[in-house]
Amino acid sequence: MTNQIKINKIINSFDKEIEVSGDKSLSIRCVLMASQAIGTSKIYNLLESEDVINSLKSIKKLGIKFKKKKNYYQIEGYGINGYTTKKKIKIDAGNSGTFARLILGLLVNSENEVKIVGDKSLSKRDFKRITEPLKRFGVNIISKNNRMPVKITGTKYLRPIKYYEKLGSAQCKSSVILAAIKTPGKTIIIAKKSRDHTELLFKYLKIPITILKKKEYDFITVSGPCNFSAFNYKVPGDISSSSFFLVLAILSTKSKILIKNVNINNSRTGIIKILNKMNAKIILKNKKIYKGELIADITVASKKNLKGIICPSSLNSSAIDEFLIIFIVAAKAKGVSIFRNLGELNKKESPRLDIATNFLKMIGIKVKREKNNIKIFGNPNLKLNENYVIKNFRKDHRIFMMSCIAALTFGGMWTIHDSDSVNSSFPNFLSELKKLGAKIS
Ligand code: S3P
Repeated sequence: MTNQIKINKIINSFDKEIEVSGDKSLSIRCVLMASQAIGTSKIYNLLESEDVINSLKSIKKLGIKFKKKKNYYQIEGYGINGYTTKKKIKIDAGNSGTFARLILGLLVNSENEVKIVGDKSLSKRDFKRITEPLKRFGVNIISKNNRMPVKITGTKYLRPIKYYEKLGSAQCKSSVILAAIKTPGKTIIIAKKSRDHTELLFKYLKIPITILKKKEYDFITVSGPCNFSAFNYKVPGDISSSSFFLVLAILSTKSKILIKNVNINNSRTGIIKILNKMNAKIILKNKKIYKGELIADITVASKKNLKGIICPSSLNSSAIDEFLIIFIVAAKAKGVSIFRNLGELNKKESPRLDIATNFLKMIGIKVKREKNNIKIFGNPNLKLNENYVIKNFRKDHRIFMMSCIAALTFGGMWTIHDSDSVNSSFPNFLSELKKLGAKIS
């Protein structure tokens, strides 16, 4: 069977400098914002993964031209009323919850119906969380059982809303923020903390937004309607992609890695805070601000004396895409680790909390699950030598990458299915691993 890989050997020591590809959240946001700006935007270092390519193909269906140049993408926007939806259109979001939910916010003024479809994994995910608030702007949205396909027909008579975002979902928050730029008046969003790339882009693009940060919630207002000018942007490296390499270095023997130019926005660095509390000693160097986003080089070396963590739930949102790989570190740490209130993890590309629980049990780690809490009894002497087969039934890219890192550091003979799942977020994942010396067939 193709599309499966085998790993039968742990990785040797390495001491390397790498760069990971552009951040996925920022790449999708840049495509969307450029598609609504007035003029020609240039996006450098855009992540060329399936999620982002599907975003580009979708805006093309909405009448937006884009061109790939030597080292950037050129996107021609015609302003916030610039999508042409003359007849019924179908767009395919593929695997991307971020694109599907954010584009819905930009379609609140579409003239005709736009139908959004997705792959098997996206079709299982909840859309009520976003159709409910968007309906309140006055738009017509139909989605059977709150799942895909979602059909949206916009309105000329948008009215602003006051929206409480209680899940800590940046996708929901951002979708409403995007709808607000089309809507006359003040849209008010009271949002549980989540990644704030959309807000930072709005500030950089001088779109009227105010943000009052409180302990657990941000109070955001957006005043619309508001056009904005085209822009140039160089997307920094993705911390979620970097995290697999950080953990590979930490858990392998006598290795060291330097990852250059990574976005270390505070709403994304939960993994660094969590792993450092576990004694990983990750260091950030050459910090700088780029168009509102914080960027740095990240370095870490192998660590023997990792310790368990009682993880504060306040870090959940800023590490939401990294828990799978954090659990792998907890498996090898001394003592018990406890992670609580991780219900949102089961709402991702696959039910990641359930899958992680079974994965850890499969490799002989004691785990206690109580609803949305997980207790992992680490084993610093963990060494595997059996056969393991990972059937990634929803082709979840992060399950695939987490399995590879476990195989390369814990030992054993692994067959890991669905290697093409990495194309949604990190097409170069396997080639980067091979550059570090991983033996993968
Ligand atoms: C994302 C937000 C998060 C994250 C996803 C990307 C974004 O999802 O898991 O990978 O770019 O806004 P939620 O907003 O649903 O938590």
